[in-house]
Amino acid sequence: MKKRINIAIDGPSGVGKTVMSTMLAKKLEYKFLSSGSFYRVIAYNAILNNIDLENEQAVNDAWHIEDLHVTEDDKIIFKNEDVTLKIREDNISRGASSIAKFPSVREKVNKFIQTFGAKYKGIIVDGRDATYRILPDAEVKFFLWATPEVRAMRRVKQDHEMGIESKYEDVLESMKIRDYNDMNRAVDPLKVSEGSIEIDTSDMSIDENFEAMYQEVLKRL
Ligand code: C5P
Repeated sequence: MKKRINIAIDGPSGVGKTVMSTMLAKKLEYKFLSSGSFYRVIAYNAILNNIDLENEQAVNDAWHIEDLHVTEDDKIIFKNEDVTLKIREDNISRGASSIAKFPSVREKVNKFIQTFGAKYKGIIVDGRDATYRILPDAEVKFFLWATPEVRAMRRVKQDHEMGIESKYEDVLESMKIRDYNDMNRAVDPLKVSEGSIEIDTSDMSIDENFEAMYQEVLKRL
């Protein structure tokens, strides 16, 4: 049987972690989990139930690990509802960034992912702390980077293609705020962890970025 490994990918918002993870998962026939999507689910649940996003205990008591399921075709089911698309909305992104600072929430999210990962060898996890907290034993670890300006430009282009007209200055501002929050929070901040392969994607196309990562993965297979 072919050797299967675990892959962890960290990096700031909008750097392309999910696109790269999805491409790698398809090529390698691995399962991919985006850890950010679970912070989004918890924020969605809190907002839906009018819970104060600054109240750690109320936010965390409002969900249980058993409420969460990821289907074979990667849909996220929460309390029997398919929330895959709902959690992508802008207010949920902001909420997720806010509740992600709570240690009790992080602990529960990590437990869910680690339990899931124990069942599948050949898992790809992306996030902010995937390389050193969620999958510290991953055989390959990446830190993806691009300047906030490049990431904002890519997001505006992507929005335009989906028929959404967003303003570059607004997107850039929100990107910088999320970077600041993610890098400066006390618990498990975004950082280049030991053993991570750093890739600056600012001047790379999607294919070049994928190829750079895939070659690193192949070295370990
Ligand atoms: O990656 P994504 O944008 O979906 O993540 C949503 C939010 O969850 C991020 O803004 C970040 O603050 C938080 N997050 C985190 N740790 C992770 C993944 C995401 O704190 N491992």
